[in-house]
Amino acid sequence: MISVEVRAGRHRYDVLIGSGLLVSVGDIVKKRLGDLHCAIISDSNVAPLFGDRVKQNLTTAGLQPTVVTIPAGEQSKTLAQAGGISDQMIAAGLDRQSFAIGLGGGVIGDISGFVAAIFHRGIPHVQIPTTLLAMVDSSIGGKTGVNTSAGKNLIGAIHHPSLVIDDVDLLKTLPRREFNQGFAEIVKHAIIADAEMFDALEHVDLSKLEPLIRRNIEIKSKIVAKDELDRTGARALLNFGHTIGHAVERAGDYREFLHGEAVSLGIVAACTISTKKAGLPRDQRDAIVHLLSTFKLPTQLPLDFPREKIFNALKFDKKFEAGKIRFVVAPKIGSAHLSSNVTPDDIREAVEGL
Ligand SMILES: NC(=O)c1ccc[n+]([C@@H]2O[C@H](COP(=O)([O-])OP(=O)(O)OC[C@H]3O[C@@H](n4cnc5c(N)ncnc54)[C@H](O)[C@@H]3O)[C@@H](O)[C@H]2O)c1
Ligand SMILES: [Zn+2]
Repeated sequence: MISVEVRAGRHRYDVLIGSGLLVSVGDIVKKRLGDLHCAIISDSNVAPLFGDRVKQNLTTAGLQPTVVTIPAGEQSKTLAQAGGISDQMIAAGLDRQSFAIGLGGGVIGDISGFVAAIFHRGIPHVQIPTTLLAMVDSSIGGKTGVNTSAGKNLIGAIHHPSLVIDDVDLLKTLPRREFNQGFAEIVKHAIIADAEMFDALEHVDLSKLEPLIRRNIEIKSKIVAKDELDRTGARALLNFGHTIGHAVERAGDYREFLHGEAVSLGIVAACTISTKKAGLPRDQRDAIVHLLSTFKLPTQLPLDFPREKIFNALKFDKKFEAGKIRFVVAPKIGSAHLSSNVTPDDIREAVEGL
């Protein structure tokens, strides 16, 4: 088992990465959080797979777990569901001495973390991510929240977990498309911060993911530590590929592309812009496109996809509100910075080229 300590502000927590961790989840959690009343918050796909095992294990270790299940999918990430989860926790007798465990992908991580942030004004949160995306990205950094009809993640709180448990065995039941989308964030991390990992990704051993997960957690947590509250611009580097990626996601009505797939397209467009405006060598851009395609991630839009919908969706992006664009560019693989030199025309041209 690998243990990584993550620091952000005055917060410190451990991320445990390994195989077979669920077998001792009760002891692991009890050692760090005590044998208290807790809620296991999960979704309708994940709870039937692992919910009972986690509950049994915690019970054997002397904890009192209550399982709360919500329907799987992004449409469950709402204030109404957060209220419903909280009501069930109150009904089950949880109080401010209790804690919450999120067992699921990024949707469960975000909503369970948000509930933990507001339940009795804040209780500890344990993350047990079950998707690759959640292990390498969403479980780290403390951003929690829900969507509203006006947009994604508009209501939320920074609430760091007390413990993250990444059991790679849980990824075995993950549908291939969901597994692959996690690599969009991994490739993003490589582009913005780690040229060595970029090269290593060409020969990645999918049966031994622990070192890769560890490296990605280190990259993300180091960036978050520099800018915990997303104020100085350091954390904004994590948005590489996301300005256009979010617009693609929205243009596809959140159905056509998974987040990672939309980000893959956004990365390709951001690389085109980086070649034009930041000196990214063309062969490095091509290597990025090639690497994304080895993970079966899209690097071109379907021919008949209405590009106009992407331009319209871009207007929703917070970064466009002030009329001044702060766009993340990569001058070479392994490094990125914010640029105010990118124009809407550059973006239009890059999207048209997708
Ligand atoms: N907080 C952050 O910093 C941050 C960062 C990135 C993304 N996010 C959020 O994460 C969410 C996306 O996360 P996601 O891609 O993990 O989506 P998700 O949680 O919806 O999971 C994807 C699908 O896989 C299923 N699933 C999960 N684990 C499984 C397993 N082990 N076996 C079988 N099926 C499984 C889920 O039920 C769901 O249907 C978005 O809401 C996004 O906003 C948050
Ligand atoms: Zn993302």
